[in-house]
Amino acid sequence: MRAVDIIRKKRFGGELTDSEIGFLIAGLVDGTIPDYQISAWAMTVCYMGMSDKETAALTLAMANSGDTVDLSPISGVKVDKHSTGGVGDKTTLIVAPLVAACGVPVAKMSGRGLGHTGGTIDKLESIPGFRTELGRDDFFAQVDEIGVAVIGQSGNIAPADKKLYALRDVTATVESIPLIASSVMSKKIAAGADAILLDVKTGDGAFMKTPEDAVKLASAMVAIGSQVGRRTVAVISDMDQPLGRTIGNALEVREAIEVLRGEGPDDLREVSLVLASHMLVLGGVAEDTDSARSRLESAISSGEALRKFAAFVAAQGGDPGVAEDLSRLPQAPLRLPVPAAEEGYVLGIEAEAVGLAAMTLGAGRATKDDAIDYAVGIELAAKPGDFVREGDLLAMLYVRADDERSASAIQAVRASYRLGAERGPDRPLLHGIVQ
Ligand code: URA
Repeated sequence: MRAVDIIRKKRFGGELTDSEIGFLIAGLVDGTIPDYQISAWAMTVCYMGMSDKETAALTLAMANSGDTVDLSPISGVKVDKHSTGGVGDKTTLIVAPLVAACGVPVAKMSGRGLGHTGGTIDKLESIPGFRTELGRDDFFAQVDEIGVAVIGQSGNIAPADKKLYALRDVTATVESIPLIASSVMSKKIAAGADAILLDVKTGDGAFMKTPEDAVKLASAMVAIGSQVGRRTVAVISDMDQPLGRTIGNALEVREAIEVLRGEGPDDLREVSLVLASHMLVLGGVAEDTDSARSRLESAISSGEALRKFAAFVAAQGGDPGVAEDLSRLPQAPLRLPVPAAEEGYVLGIEAEAVGLAAMTLGAGRATKDDAIDYAVGIELAAKPGDFVREGDLLAMLYVRADDERSASAIQAVRASYRLGAERGPDRPLLHGIVQ
């Protein structure tokens, strides 16, 4: 077999066999196929696409290229959750203890963030003492004992995806639905869950800018799930503005705790409940999403969900007292207001710009070796639909110092608000379900 023949076959519209795809991925991992041929193939896929069968073969080849986790020693249907990423997305912090409180075991691996703000692991590590590196036996024992554990992704999960993604990133071949779908699903499949709930974001702050493209990506991922025998459901949720009001690691933990207490912003609570409802159904503990929802709501109102969060934090070495006392989370020394420069209705808040402003303050990483400042971030006081007068508070920045970085973040946050004389239409929070 020669890589050049496989590239040519794809280029002229042929469907690659499982063994041709396996040959490419094996050659990518062991270095026998040079980067330029893999890149040429990825570019061809961008133009010619891949069939469902090819996409599933690519996913499995990447999933099996490194460590695969066997979660079968843990009893129950293990349901994983994955978000395609967004600004202010702290739903895993809410959903993991919430569904665990309702009987669905969560044995989850999460990533660190690059860009915008931290990933779930960074957010959890903002809780004093919280450890995200557990050995396999401790990880399993914790899930069996309290129903939930979240750890950092092992370095050797789907190494083929890591290599391919690095090439795609520098050859303008990220934006291909079969390549994104196989990339995401290869990691989820290697992580071993029985069922997968996907939160596919759409809007300004997401990979998929339109709901139509988000549905296409979701459908491709659900098709992979069914081809490889993992039940998969995708919720399409909005990311045209940040989710909730906070962006920044400890601030996002604070907001997640508020939702678990039955407080917190409506949009974050709603998206979390929808995701969690599907997880209860996938996990086989609820018949349908309506009954799942009542169960989740009572876990919140009874305090069970918050107690599960505290037990989860304690089990991983963190300070469970944060659940009751938010001041135990890292606190920024200074707050700087962002006042409105004019009056009007808030029509929109550019999610990506707010994410970048939070990164400027130190809440995210520009390169993988950057350190994160857990305490800093942004709290949005005004959200779409609100009316503000000149000088009213748009947002509050939580910063280390009143310096140039903070000044440029203030400018950026102010510029991210779109104001108008008339109230704009409400944008839906949810754009559909693919299953
Ligand atoms: N996220 C991934 O994991 N892979 C992609 O290709 C794009 C986003």
